[in-house]
Amino acid sequence: MKYHSSILLFGLLFIAAPSQAADDSLISGKLMDYIGLGAVAFLLLLVVTALFVLLRTIKLFTRAILRSEGVTEEEIELKLDPPKATPKPKGDVWIKLMSLRPLSEEKDMIMEHEYDGIQELDNPTPAWFMYLFYGTIIFGIGYLLNYHVFHTGQLQYQEYQTEVKQADIAKQAFLSKSANRVDENNVKLVSDPAVLASGKAIFIQTCAPCHGEHAQGVVGPNLTDDYWLHGNKIADLFKTIKYGVAAKGMPTWEKQLSPKQIADVSNYVKSLHDTHPAGAKEPQGTKETDDKLASK
Ligand code: HEC
Repeated sequence: MKYHSSILLFGLLFIAAPSQAADDSLISGKLMDYIGLGAVAFLLLLVVTALFVLLRTIKLFTRAILRSEGVTEEEIELKLDPPKATPKPKGDVWIKLMSLRPLSEEKDMIMEHEYDGIQELDNPTPAWFMYLFYGTIIFGIGYLLNYHVFHTGQLQYQEYQTEVKQADIAKQAFLSKSANRVDENNVKLVSDPAVLASGKAIFIQTCAPCHGEHAQGVVGPNLTDDYWLHGNKIADLFKTIKYGVAAKGMPTWEKQLSPKQIADVSNYVKSLHDTHPAGAKEPQGTKETDDKLASK
C-alpha cells in the first residue's frame, strides 16, 4: 500500500509535463500530449511490474534463507503469509470515522518521550481526514485530466472567450430584432455602407423593373431628381414603399419586405439623389429640398 502513493505522485508529474510542451516545436501540442500519456502509462506499468518482481524475489530469498536455517515448511508459510488478524468488532460509524481507540489500548500508544510527567499518545490520523485527503488526490487527477490533458474542460480564459462569443451572437440577434422594429415614425437616414449595400441589392431585384437599374425611372418615376410625388424625407420614402400607391401602380411592399429591408432600400434611394443617371425620366411632382443626411 505504501508504494501506491509514490506511483501516483510519479504519474502526476509526468501527466502534467506534456501540456507544457513548447509552442514552437515541430510536434503539435496534442500529439505531445498523447506521447506524454503513453509514456506515463508505460512507466506506471514498468514500475508496477518491477515492484511485483521485487516482492517475489524477496519472498523467494526469505524462504531460501529460512530453509537453510532449518525452519519447517509450515513455520515459513506462517511467517510469510501471517493469518489475518481477527477483525475487530464493528464499532459505530462515529468511532470509525474518528479512528478512536478504546482506553484499554492507550498504554500501547504512549510515545516514548515524557516531560514533567506529561506524555503523548500516538493516535492515528482520523479516518475522515484521510478520506478527505485521498479525495483531494482523486479530484486532482480528474481536474488535471479534464483541464490540461484532454482539454475537455475550459480554463478561465477560454470560458471568458466563449461567453463573449455567445454574448456577441445574442447581441446580433437583438440588433437585428430591434432593426426590424423600425417603421415610418422612427426610421433614420443613415449612410452606413452595409445598409446601402443591402438596400441596393433589394432595389436591383425588386424595384429596378419599374424604376430602372439606376432609379432613372421607367414606369415608376425617376428617384434621383429633386421632384417628388409623395415627399422625399426618409419617412416619406419609407411610407410610400411600405404602403405603395395602389391606384398609380406602385405596389405595397409591407408583405414582401421586412421593416429593416424597407428602411435599407429607402436609404439606398436617398443615397441616389443627384446621381443624374443616363436616360432619366422627366421630373414628376413638386421640387423638394430635403436631402440632408443624418450622419452629416
Ligand atoms: C410595378 C412597378 C413598380 C415597382 C416594382 C416598384 N415601383 Fe415604386 N413606383 C411605381 C409607380 C408607378 C410609382 C408612382 C406612383 C404615383 O404616381 O403616385 C412609384 C413610386 C415610387 C416612389 C415615390 C416617388 C415619388 O416621386 O414620390 C418611391 C420612393 C418608390 N416608388 C420606390 C420603390 C421601391 C423602393 C421599389 C422596390 C421595393 C419600388 N418602388 C418598386 C412603380 C413601381
